[in-house]
Amino acid sequence: MKPYREIGHKIIWLEEVDSTNNYARKLIENGEEEGALVLARKQTQGRGREGRNWISPEGGLYMSLVLKPPLPVKELSLMTLLTAVAVLEAIEDLTLLKCQVKWPNDLLLEGKKVCGILTESKVMGEAVEYVVVGIGINVNSSIEGLNADLPYPATSLKEILGFEIENSILLKEIMQNFNKYYKLIPGEGWSAILKKWKERIYQTDIEIGEPIIYLQNYLSMENEEGELA
Ligand code: BTN
Repeated sequence: MKPYREIGHKIIWLEEVDSTNNYARKLIENGEEEGALVLARKQTQGRGREGRNWISPEGGLYMSLVLKPPLPVKELSLMTLLTAVAVLEAIEDLTLLKCQVKWPNDLLLEGKKVCGILTESKVMGEAVEYVVVGIGINVNSSIEGLNADLPYPATSLKEILGFEIENSILLKEIMQNFNKYYKLIPGEGWSAILKKWKERIYQTDIEIGEPIIYLQNYLSMENEEGELA
């Protein structure tokens, strides 16, 4: 078995980029190994889900992880859930605020969006070639203008806390959590991750699609104590 190499062992720091996800994808196409972390002070064309823009002024945390997870294609959507849990636990540990997940991958504070996750992958048949997990967090950003391309209101940690927190400290917490959970796959680890994700879900009127059916298969394995088998 290959020895585990920490995700984030190599950091590529950019003052400005169109999108850290674009940058990470180009790196991989040019042979980058798993574990690189692309980080930018600001993005000029940050991308969100469903073709939305992710407005990315200075003050936010914009990062993408280069991953080659040992997962079958049908389990790929779980990477987003793992990331959501890693980020929300980091935010909660640093701020003592209560964070929630809005299906499938928005993180909310006080009902407003503070973080979005964009997971992009390349697959060849049943094999996963790579995954790029992009994370955008409104940390010290001014919220003016952030709402422009969102279906519901945005917030930032600074707006809620009333003071700034260091992006680098938040980054460190996120990466510690991410590595802790990433090491657990493939295998039994998913149950623990899904349990944590489920505890934080913001609303249950989610659309039924493949990922949630897949999740429900997991979640329905609960025993009487509510534990996942
Ligand atoms: C969403 O909620 O729609 C997902 C937003 C994801 C934004 C991050 S910021 C870092 C990475 N680079 C991008 O262009 N997008 C993701």
